[in-house]
Amino acid sequence: MAKDTAPTLGMRTLAVHAGQRPDPSTGAIATPISTASAYSYGDFDTGEQRFSGESPGYLYSRFANPTVAAFEGKMAALEGGEAAVAFTSGMSAICATLMALVSSGDELIHVGTLYGGTEGVMRTLLPRFGVRAIHVAEVSELEAAITAKTRVIFAETPDNPMLGVVDLHETARIARAHQVLTVADNTFATPCLTRPLALGIDVVVHSATKFIGGHGDSTGGVVVASAAWVNAIRTVGLKQFGGCLSPFEASLLIRGLKTLPLRVEAACLSAERIARLLEEHPAVAKVFYPGLASHPGHEVARRQMSRFGALMSFELKGGKDAARTFLDRLELVTQAVSLGDTDSLACHPASTTHSAVAKDIRDQYGVTEGLVRLSVGIEDVEDLERDIRHALAALA
Ligand SMILES: Cc1ncc(COP(=O)(O)O)c(C=O)c1O
Repeated sequence: MAKDTAPTLGMRTLAVHAGQRPDPSTGAIATPISTASAYSYGDFDTGEQRFSGESPGYLYSRFANPTVAAFEGKMAALEGGEAAVAFTSGMSAICATLMALVSSGDELIHVGTLYGGTEGVMRTLLPRFGVRAIHVAEVSELEAAITAKTRVIFAETPDNPMLGVVDLHETARIARAHQVLTVADNTFATPCLTRPLALGIDVVVHSATKFIGGHGDSTGGVVVASAAWVNAIRTVGLKQFGGCLSPFEASLLIRGLKTLPLRVEAACLSAERIARLLEEHPAVAKVFYPGLASHPGHEVARRQMSRFGALMSFELKGGKDAARTFLDRLELVTQAVSLGDTDSLACHPASTTHSAVAKDIRDQYGVTEGLVRLSVGIEDVEDLERDIRHALAALA
């Protein structure tokens, strides 16, 4: 069976089987870690044909590697895309994508809130290369912001850390009408909850460091799109910038992907309960979780996501002091950035993930001093609830 192409298989089956076959030389079921940096092409003419792209085959590990290719095949199948290309990190995937899609003189529009690192790329890196990045808060503001120079619309959904939900179908519809490309960061949702390509988005990017790896032990990034766009992004990101994923990391990411649907479902179920607990607690001013009817993105999330995710943020009434007290009192939930791990993690975005974002932009986003971000892991939900209640009790 051609495991990478069967479109009718479910997510759990794809997560286990897509992109891999028993190793033809040994029969090994787990994808072997191929450490070779160069691959023999045998003779002169084959070498020339491989380098020109006329014939397939591995050449050099920075361009493509069998272990990394197995990871890419799995990701392409899970996202329902033609091809994928892996990178050293999520930021590397995002930068390679943008560098491949935009040129000096172009404009890019980003919708809603962004992870601090990505916001930095928009605000400081792109302008240095003559690309103007324009921020709009809502999809409804897109039409007015598009000009003849607009090349790309970029959105993160749900976004980091406000959990805003961008309507990807509507974004793609508007973009297509103006022949503008769309890029969606699907790190928070994962393909288990949202498949942006099926909604009309052109390019999906991920920090594979998060849910995809899922165990807090690997750093990576990946882009899924049409074969043509993946080829262009591979050329810029790997052949030119050289940000290739290590085969060791790829092996960890492949293992992580096998349980992705199970982990995401378990974490989502717990997150739904914890969001309700927080919403009812007197020390909490507001909870940002797409699964709550009070969330402004709830209706779009119901259409676009099969569950509401494992991430939430909440604002404590007592501001930064309350955030410090709460976070320092957690025993089971670990204080750390990153997200999407087996372990529940919590952080204070204003002083960590978004500390490099200018204060006025943080205010615009709603990243206040009392805001705490929680990534719900796969522990028993009763234990997490007890830990969170205990930490909140110090604020009552
Ligand atoms: C939504 C999102 N995209 C991209 C990144 C960057 O990923 P990485 O840390 O793997 O470079 C992050 C990191 O937190 C993120 O939250």
